Amino acid sequence: MIKTIKDFNFKLKKVLIRVDYNVPMKDDGNITDDFRIRETLPTINYILKQMPSQVILMTHIGRPEGKDPLKEPALRTNKVGERLGQLLNMPVKKVDGWQADSNKSNLSNSKAFTSKTFNSKDCIIMLENLRFNPCEQAKDVKLKDEFGKQLASLADIYVNDAFSNSHRDDASMTSVPKFVKEKCIGFLIKKELDMIKLTIEDPVKPFISIIGGVKADKLNAVQNLLKTADKILIGGALAFLFLKVNGYSVGKTSIDTKGLTPETEAKIKQYLKNPKIVLPIDAVVALSTDIKDSKQTKIVDVDKIPDDMIALDIGPASIERFSLIIKQAKTIVWNGPIGYFENPAFANGTKQIAKIISETKAKSIVGGGDSAAAVTQFGYDKKMTHVSSGGGASLELIEGKELVALKALER
Ligand code: 3PG
Repeated sequence: MIKTIKDFNFKLKKVLIRVDYNVPMKDDGNITDDFRIRETLPTINYILKQMPSQVILMTHIGRPEGKDPLKEPALRTNKVGERLGQLLNMPVKKVDGWQADSNKSNLSNSKAFTSKTFNSKDCIIMLENLRFNPCEQAKDVKLKDEFGKQLASLADIYVNDAFSNSHRDDASMTSVPKFVKEKCIGFLIKKELDMIKLTIEDPVKPFISIIGGVKADKLNAVQNLLKTADKILIGGALAFLFLKVNGYSVGKTSIDTKGLTPETEAKIKQYLKNPKIVLPIDAVVALSTDIKDSKQTKIVDVDKIPDDMIALDIGPASIERFSLIIKQAKTIVWNGPIGYFENPAFANGTKQIAKIISETKAKSIVGGGDSAAAVTQFGYDKKMTHVSSGGGASLELIEGKELVALKALER
């Protein structure tokens, strides 16, 4: 059984909170979307109200992979710390840590970094990007555990509220819990688990799922959803993968051929016979191969995609077909864009599906990553019951997998 922050008293305790502030930033480090920071406020405020002696926050940002921190403002935690301070209306003290040693696979620099480094007057502390320390993602478990042990020594209680990183077997996620007795999840992880995991396991029917995106690995999600969903609507490049396996020509449409192994092909063939699976019947194709800027489009039936063209969205007849099904739903789980929404010429499918969902009274859950970005871009995010803060992590929950960092808290 995993404990939550409600199981603890934080008074006068040192609390180490793992958050995921891996947020979109410009090159100068300025934040363009603070959603993930705001999502952790309930946990941080709850703990602060109980007067802990110190709150230490840690996160990763991006994938530094040996880069020099001093030259990479968009990989440092200075701006996320500042933004958190504004949101809490309290100073957040940024401390530099192991960055001077970023290229070395050892702990020599970070060993000097103990709880004594901190001034006890600083109530909230933000550590430097964990991934500047190579041990955070070291393959060698010993190194990872050594770093985890060191982080664990900073606090009395460890709180994981980094939902969107909970599928990563990193030191701050899976090693720290080995060395702290008192450990739990925060409100964000609790909310994500209740919204995604519990909903899929026990949905109010009819339960409709919409799966889009590019990768064939979404088939694992389809497989798990088939257990409880009444219909699964397939969009995005995944739909064209299904159509290709079904014997249609998809022209120059980019499908995940790498993911199309004999096993995945057999799986898709099996799904094609399942009446729960619904595919598009028409598509929007680009008249040029420059898909980023292409404005000229044509609507064709899916069995008539010209050999020299690329299908990048579902067409109006498919939107109508999907819409009739979505309108029946009492529960909707959506993961993956329906088309190449980054180009407005191919955004209609994704936009219309978001609009139709927003007009239903169904419990609507949008799995993170690109679909969450699309729903937000089109202004429907506030109309959804839940927009997940996690991309890969939410997909793993939809696939029915157990998140590795949560398993570590059970030990
Ligand atoms: C995410 O944005 O999905 C998480 O922060 C994990 O980041 P990663 O894919 O670089 O591990």
